[in-house]
Amino acid sequence: MSITITGTGSSLPPLSVTNHDLSDILDTSHEWIESRTGIESRHICEHGLTQTAAEAGANALKNAGRAADELDYILCATMSADYVTPALACLVQQELGASCPALDINAACSGFIYGLDMARALITSGRAKRILLIAAESMSRTVDWTKREVSVLFGDGAGAVVVEEGDDLLALRVGAVGRAEPLYMRRQASNCPYGSAETDDEDGYLHMDGREIYRFAVGAMVKDILSVLDDAGISPDQVDYVLPHQANLRILEAAAKKLPIAPEKFLNNMRHTGNTSAASIPILLDEACRAGTIRAGQILVMSAFGAGLTTGACIIKWSKD
Ligand code: ACO
Repeated sequence: MSITITGTGSSLPPLSVTNHDLSDILDTSHEWIESRTGIESRHICEHGLTQTAAEAGANALKNAGRAADELDYILCATMSADYVTPALACLVQQELGASCPALDINAACSGFIYGLDMARALITSGRAKRILLIAAESMSRTVDWTKREVSVLFGDGAGAVVVEEGDDLLALRVGAVGRAEPLYMRRQASNCPYGSAETDDEDGYLHMDGREIYRFAVGAMVKDILSVLDDAGISPDQVDYVLPHQANLRILEAAAKKLPIAPEKFLNNMRHTGNTSAASIPILLDEACRAGTIRAGQILVMSAFGAGLTTGACIIKWSKD
């Protein structure tokens, strides 16, 4: 017994900001951003993340034909919630009118795959029968908007799935290599009179070594995808679609070149979402399901990498019509 995804949903905040809009406030251009990342626009939460996360969750429940009071658990993968505490999952629980336990997971951009791993553990142990897993990010609140190197890459949004008992998850791997320097966001400096913590930082913004992340991401995606294919006994030509973390089109193209899977099988939507961190895979999944691209019987591969440095990949035999 494993798990199955019985419903998908997503929500993108209404405000869409184009590369041309950004060139009005930063020393950048549509050509620079599009040619290096594949991103043309991104959505931005003007009024906090909770509503967007709750909408994605409600859409997934509706798609699964389930009600909030049927949930045994709500898991939210996020590193950019409106509150440090309470957890985003608790705020979503209140919005949806659910009454089950609710918990956040922070595995940065790999959060959705980590969330599936947690959901599988809760379900196969008998602790839960039905879980709402939401990945939601307001990355626009993490970046320094005076720094063109990082701010143009990210966007906000939420994707969600309802997870229940089933046999669709064929293999899943998560990992971490325990390094902060390539990608981090420190706690903002406090006014504690007894010295500052090592992690206190005046600016408290997201910092990234773009080139190092690029190298790490390509290597991790290739290794993880080959590993889960091997674990599941699935050959590359059986794969219908790869749903990779939507960090950057060049990363996907470089990984696709090193894998024995046709490049056109790598789905992407970062053109209109930017990099939404943990939310990117479930948003892509929901959009592909609604477009009719993903259908019952297909073999899907998901692969993510992020701060930590975390990684995760899985293979799902999709069964939902
Ligand atoms: N607009 C215009 N010029 C820019 C911008 C911008 N937004 N950002 C940087 N530049 C300039 C730099 O200042 C530099 O100028 P210089 O040559 O005069 O010094 C020049 O462009 C080249 O800068 P590089 O950093 O060398 O640009 P590079 O070609 O490496 O591309 C990028 C940067 C796109 C970030 C690349 O390193 C990359 O793809 N990295 C992967 C990281 C990534 O996508 N992370 C996503 C988030 S992390 C995650 O999801 C896990």
